[in-house]
Amino acid sequence: MKIKSADFVMSNSDVTKCPKTKIPEYAFIGRSNVGKSSLINALTNRKSLAKTSGKPGKTQLINHFKINNEWHLVDLPGYGYARVSKSSKKTFQKFITDYFALREQLICGFVLVDCRHEPQKIDLEFMEWLGLNGIPFSIIFTKSDKLTKNTLPVHIENYKTKMLETWEEMPPYFITSSADKNGCEEVLSEIDRLNKLF
Ligand code: GTP
Ligand code: MG
Repeated sequence: MKIKSADFVMSNSDVTKCPKTKIPEYAFIGRSNVGKSSLINALTNRKSLAKTSGKPGKTQLINHFKINNEWHLVDLPGYGYARVSKSSKKTFQKFITDYFALREQLICGFVLVDCRHEPQKIDLEFMEWLGLNGIPFSIIFTKSDKLTKNTLPVHIENYKTKMLETWEEMPPYFITSSADKNGCEEVLSEIDRLNKLF
């Protein structure tokens, strides 16, 4: 899919105040610093459409971007990072779960996972929550440029093995890098395919 336009629409922390337009929507979610905002910039070929930072906790709100005047891409804050006490750190910020539970236009949530790390409990729990709530999702492995050609497939296989402990099958997944744009075409093709089904 060719990106002809990518425009910031609005930011807020209340799903009921998100754009009312009924165009297909895709949201990027995952731990802080996993590379959600960077991937939005890589996919849209924009340097700073979404704000990124080396420090976790940069994105704090639900950010809507309108792509090609046809669909929305949504940048969300990282879960597991909140200015909350340690004991409740594991919980997903309420407005994030509200967003997923209530946003009717959402076609697919993309759960971003850093390919360098072992499967993290918080990601597995979030995917389980999506599954229990019947919310379609795919996995996007990020930062593939940080692993060698040999270690990357080992990490992906390890992740699949972990997923298959709870899931009947591995959800659709993509291997990406915002640094070298690896996998960006594939993610855009998937969105294009889903847009056409909408
Ligand atoms: P929050 O908004 O805090 O939830 O983080 P985020 O998930 O939006 O992460 P962000 O895109 O801000 O990126 C975090 C850091 O990771 C930045 O320093 C990025 O430059 C770096 N980063 C993101 N994607 C990649 C990638 O594909 N490769 C490499 N090498 N670095 C990346
Ligand atoms: Mg961000």
